[in-house]
Amino acid sequence: MPKQKLWGGRFTQPTDKFVEEFTASIDFDKRLYHQDIRGSIAHARMLGKQGIISMDDMESIVHGLQEILRQIEAGQFTFSVALEDIHMNIESRLSDKIGEAGKRLHTGRSRNDQVALDIRLYLRDEIVEISAYLDLLIDALIEQAEKNIQVIMPGYTHLQTAQPILFSHHLMAYVEMFRRDRGRMEDCLKRMNVSPLGAGALAGTTFPIDREHVAEQLDFPDTTRNSLDSVSDRDFALEFLAGSSILMMHLSRFSEELILWSTSEFKFIELSDGFCTGSSIMPQKKNPDVPELVRGKTGRVYGNLMALLTVMKGLPLAYNKDMQEDKEPLFDTIDTVKGSLKIFVDMIRELRVNAERMLAAAGGGYSTATDVADYLVRKGMPFRDAHEVVGKCVAYCVSSGKDLPGLTLEEWRSFSSRFDEDIADSITLEASVNARSATGGTARERVLAEICRAKEGR
Ligand code: ARG
Repeated sequence: MPKQKLWGGRFTQPTDKFVEEFTASIDFDKRLYHQDIRGSIAHARMLGKQGIISMDDMESIVHGLQEILRQIEAGQFTFSVALEDIHMNIESRLSDKIGEAGKRLHTGRSRNDQVALDIRLYLRDEIVEISAYLDLLIDALIEQAEKNIQVIMPGYTHLQTAQPILFSHHLMAYVEMFRRDRGRMEDCLKRMNVSPLGAGALAGTTFPIDREHVAEQLDFPDTTRNSLDSVSDRDFALEFLAGSSILMMHLSRFSEELILWSTSEFKFIELSDGFCTGSSIMPQKKNPDVPELVRGKTGRVYGNLMALLTVMKGLPLAYNKDMQEDKEPLFDTIDTVKGSLKIFVDMIRELRVNAERMLAAAGGGYSTATDVADYLVRKGMPFRDAHEVVGKCVAYCVSSGKDLPGLTLEEWRSFSSRFDEDIADSITLEASVNARSATGGTARERVLAEICRAKEGR
């Protein structure tokens, strides 16, 4: 009975059934089948080249593994919990298929370096996909920013009307965030992109292996440099989870704004029907479920980061079984991030903008008060004094029910003799926006220039 296990040699009693289930990872790590087989083929070729196994054995291992790959992809492979994980499921099937040669595959290798390799291979591909989704989202935002370049909206601090800005400027702020997210993904890919195979269980191997040959076959530019670190390091997974958490935080903030902007109080935007649902009791409702769910799903990605950080924090070198707990948080994060990005791309593409509502709101809340102060500064008044004067103008407007553009020259002059006719033109929404023309400002020319830069990927 214990002989069925690939490690059964030193055991005299069978594994407890529940222990078997409890320790198995096959239910989730079967996702790694492709990477596991790819890694094993590279390892077998290297063993053959080095004369550690015969070329005949190498050939039959490679063919056997290719056949298993086809079977898994055709849904004809039965995974077994008794065989614990993806590595032993495949290896055991290989030996059933090709006999003796199959049992030579694991020479000079351990599941510890094997799993470290598989996750790296898997994550590497997923990061490429996530980056591609980020590019699509950035493109969709740029497209909306160009299309709506005329639209002025209120900019906020403390969610109180602050200064008028271009809606495009607001969208381009998210472009900056998502470009940083992409940078973080690329960065984590760089450190992840080294082959750990050859570390063995922890100390290396007694066989004359060629680690560089394995790395080359698997498109790794380099190999890890310390065998203990190779099998006990999950920094690359943590970096990915941390980058994903920040990315989800960005999506969540954006979601919050989309939800707020689509309320009947704001009505700045309309999400297309396909991204909303109705209420089973209130016939008038159109709920922004998609951004709400993305905002909600941010929690599980943070949780996944905390889960893996906590798994790793007390682990002595090198491999510990605790590390099998790395996979579910990783897979869940990959699914959540990809799903959220995918749905966001389409939602942004189909976003409809209510330019009149935004413009009307942009003029409220004394949003050009800073422009009045800046006007006085240009007329020679120190900024702190100007701030005080305009504060009094605003208080006057509040008590008399007026707004700043509605004041007569006489009224302006009652606060400072520095006011002239040209005050009216200085505080239109257009003038306010376009006056902010230094790098990073909301002036239309500046935003257009940033759109150009972003399109060129600079
Ligand atoms: N299923 C294991 C994991 O995911 C593979 C490595 C197991 N190594 C070991 N020595 N038990 O971590």
